[in-house]
Amino acid sequence: MLHRFADSDKVLSMRENWIRPLLNEARAQGLERTAHAYPETGGKIKIDGQEVLNFASNDYLDLAHHCHVMDCARKALDQYGIGSTASRLVTGTLPIHEELEERLAKEKGFEAALVFGSGYMANVGTIPALAGRNDIIFADKLVHASMIDACKLSGAKLVRFAHNDPTALKKRLEQFPATNNRRLIITESIFSMDGDIAPLTEIAALAAQHGAMLMIDEAHASGTFGPHGSGLIREHELENSVTVSMGTMSKAFAGYGGFIACSEILRNLLINSARAFIYATAPPPSVIGAALGIMDVLESSPRLGVILQANADSFRSLLHTAGLDTLQSQSQIIPIMIGDNEKAVAISNKLREQGIIAAAIRPPTVPIGSARLRLSVTLAHHIDDLEYAAKLIIAAVKK
Ligand SMILES: Cc1ncc(COP(=O)(O)O)c(C=O)c1O
Repeated sequence: MLHRFADSDKVLSMRENWIRPLLNEARAQGLERTAHAYPETGGKIKIDGQEVLNFASNDYLDLAHHCHVMDCARKALDQYGIGSTASRLVTGTLPIHEELEERLAKEKGFEAALVFGSGYMANVGTIPALAGRNDIIFADKLVHASMIDACKLSGAKLVRFAHNDPTALKKRLEQFPATNNRRLIITESIFSMDGDIAPLTEIAALAAQHGAMLMIDEAHASGTFGPHGSGLIREHELENSVTVSMGTMSKAFAGYGGFIACSEILRNLLINSARAFIYATAPPPSVIGAALGIMDVLESSPRLGVILQANADSFRSLLHTAGLDTLQSQSQIIPIMIGDNEKAVAISNKLREQGIIAAAIRPPTVPIGSARLRLSVTLAHHIDDLEYAAKLIIAAVKK
């Protein structure tokens, strides 16, 4: 028996001997990644008895431990058990999935909504249903990896346009005119790594002028901008100019799962063709219960996003005044441009020793040469926490 294991180990190591050089190369470039376990979640956590300010959490509204949200999750768990136990088109759709979709549609200002297993799956499921092999997708240079993966999966021609630049998009639309094909523009309202805001009104006008569909990823704007946290599409009253509004329950909603809001007929098409919807188990009851609880909180406390943005503004101006480069950030996501991969990691490690978690984000998540600290302000950070953190961050970056 022992002998057989030794043999198979040897075969395995021969089969896997291509892995080590790849990892060594990543390490040499300062790009090796590791996943550490943290004892708690949220913007302020305790590690080995020390209070740590966590600027890497996407729990922007500090709702992950909200008692009403946890009660709603527990209620759904008690009523339905731990899983939905089937895919949505078989027996996995529960009344709470339908209730959540109805509320999301209303909140986002669209006819209908469809919940997916994650934000990643919402993008990967929706985009290939909108565009196929003969079609063209125009994507902002900085859209999230899930949108790029979705474009690849769709087989459509992918045309990139300069980040947040309507003139560049216009040129691309003129360069690749409509023939017998469909054209789809994709962008984010708040960019995940830059924290800047897309010129949605101009992009929507171009989409209308050129007869293109428009899909906007509101992963980081859902809950944090717009009336009741309904996002920037609603804030700019663009519901009728946008084909798909995408969102996730994993950021300000503090849980898990993704969704899209769209017309009723498009929802029907997705139910019939989005593979990430059809061939996956329905999201579990407790997760859906929690999302319903979050929607109650957003309804009863509509100013949470406003307070978050005011706090983020004052934090950003402290960093800015000290000469740090926060790119075009206008949201709770504040990057600090460093450039070099190893330097970004060294600053992040130094801050960690001082009780600040400031994630170093490196390529391929961001373009080569633009490694940065990505800071997420959350409502767990009080103004004095932000002032204290700003001092340490400024000192660490300047050194
Ligand atoms: C812009 C954007 N879209 C989509 C996703 C994917 O969402 P999820 O984490 O819920 O799968 C993310 C998350 O990182 C994101 O930042």
